[in-house]
Amino acid sequence: MGWTYEQFKQAILDLINIDLSSYKERQMKRRIDSLINRNGCDNYKDYYDLINNNKEKLLQFVNYITINVSEFFRNPAQWETLEKNILPQILEKYKKIKIWSAACSTGEEPYSVVMLLSKFLPLSSIRVLATDIDMDALEKARKGIYADNSLGALPKEFLHRYFTHRENSYIIAPEVKSCVDFAQHDLLQDPFPDNCHLILCRNVIIYFTEEAKAKLYNKLSNALHPDGILFVGSTEQIIMPQRYNLKPVKAFFYRRMQ
Ligand SMILES: C[S@@+](CC[C@H](N)C(=O)[O-])C[C@H]1O[C@@H](n2cnc3c(N)ncnc32)[C@H](O)[C@@H]1O
Repeated sequence: MGWTYEQFKQAILDLINIDLSSYKERQMKRRIDSLINRNGCDNYKDYYDLINNNKEKLLQFVNYITINVSEFFRNPAQWETLEKNILPQILEKYKKIKIWSAACSTGEEPYSVVMLLSKFLPLSSIRVLATDIDMDALEKARKGIYADNSLGALPKEFLHRYFTHRENSYIIAPEVKSCVDFAQHDLLQDPFPDNCHLILCRNVIIYFTEEAKAKLYNKLSNALHPDGILFVGSTEQIIMPQRYNLKPVKAFFYRRMQ
């Protein structure tokens, strides 16, 4: 006998501790249904048995539902705002800054922050915490090897300074890599760091339900230093940010209100 989607969600929570109920249901269910189809399974129970008994299929499932697409300097205009406006303001007040790239996927985002910051500070004084729920993405991030399709928006000066080109890939420089601490972290369940001067949480919130979003914005706001900045994705503008003690400073940037 097959399972309902509810039963499948519960079984996934028990198996890998990913809470599918906090992700928008229609979108997530459609994605999972299509994956089940592609794997030739008839129903949720058959597909669950498949991923429960096959590590590779389980990894495929996690990768597919978490959607790891990323690129360096994604939405370049916003990175320009970060460089020209936000970072100078933060650095004017604080010499040592705590930065968190949440849901960092395969590392393009935290490495972009490091490279940008290197225009202001010596690499030796830069530290970025970068987290994601997906261990596989984190492993790729730690390796730091990229295909050219993730480098489209990368400024040429950084490409020349911080990458080695080998065959079809680009390898990030060890001195950039060593500025980033990667760790597994689930935005829906794990405790958050505190006193961050800058948090990047981009292109992940769109997948969450309204309820999960509200909880997340509260937790992100609390994770900020009293005048810290939250940088969100280009489709993730926050409606009535004052609810979360946040104030818009530029499009896609919010400051915690003290
Ligand atoms: C589309 S990528 C965004 C990557 C990067 N922030 C960017 O904007 O290019 C979304 C990432 O969110 C991660 N993710 C999904 N659910 C998560 C959760 N509950 N906690 C932490 N990360 C999660 C996925 O594993 C994926 O790497």
